[in-house]
Amino acid sequence: MLVAEKTAFAVVPTGAALGATIEGFDPARASAAEIATVRRALLDHLVIRIRDTDITDAEFENFGKKFGTLKPSPDFTRSRPVYLQDAPNVTIISNVTEDGKPIGEHGDGELHWHTDLAFTDEPSAHTMLLAREVPPIGGNTSFANMYAALEALPETTRARIARLTCKHQASHNAQGGRRPGYKDIETEDVREMPGPIHPLVRTHPDTGRQALFLGRRFGAYIPGLTLEKSEALLDELWSYAALPEHTWTQEWRLGDLIVWDNRCTMHRRDAFTGQGRRRMHRLTTLGERPF
Ligand code: OGA
Ligand code: MN
Repeated sequence: MLVAEKTAFAVVPTGAALGATIEGFDPARASAAEIATVRRALLDHLVIRIRDTDITDAEFENFGKKFGTLKPSPDFTRSRPVYLQDAPNVTIISNVTEDGKPIGEHGDGELHWHTDLAFTDEPSAHTMLLAREVPPIGGNTSFANMYAALEALPETTRARIARLTCKHQASHNAQGGRRPGYKDIETEDVREMPGPIHPLVRTHPDTGRQALFLGRRFGAYIPGLTLEKSEALLDELWSYAALPEHTWTQEWRLGDLIVWDNRCTMHRRDAFTGQGRRRMHRLTTLGERPF
């Protein structure tokens, strides 16, 4: 009888500015030593990928707990709050509809560059996606290294933003629509939109390294500057935010499990309109107030 040879446990960098694949690793049967290595790999590579997983949602949730306190996005941010019975922290990102109703969030459109929950006081530390259904093409997810973005800035710009903050408006989603919890907010002026104020340069609590922290372009405002100066500085910062040489793109396969660190990355997703069903199971961990 032929027995498939077990791949040895290894951390294999993508060769791009971020990302590594963990080989020979079963997230449902991980030893403490393996978990420590995987967590180290996440700090070093910012995004990790585990391929060909075959795990239940409960096992996925257990694995997620190794990275921190699980905390799903608050309902006011979610178009479709769904809770799985055997894994209550797992939510669904999907374009699939059942009986005319979406089974998850975000449909099939493009998701612009962003950091998860930047528009809350405590943005998510980690996000994990487990690919349960993957369309034949499209729906790829790209990641950008925000340590590298900060390092790429001109000296003068870096000095200028060292003590500046950014308001991450919470009332409107990335498409400009109003979030369910903010129906009474009428303003279209970013200076007046509600949202938390975070430093433009944040320190990663585990690595001690500094990263550019932008959240999302739409609705951002730098307090203390005129609207024109704020827009000009944000445009400049965003021009360094996702330089091709600082990014890596995940092309999804069924069973892929990706973990990223929102404290030092941003991500975006390609549209996959008309390309078929896509269903990701998702976990997030509670983050700290950026400092
Ligand atoms: C997310 C997200 C991207 C994707 O879940 O936070 O941005 O590829 N998802 O579905
Ligand atoms: Mn996201």
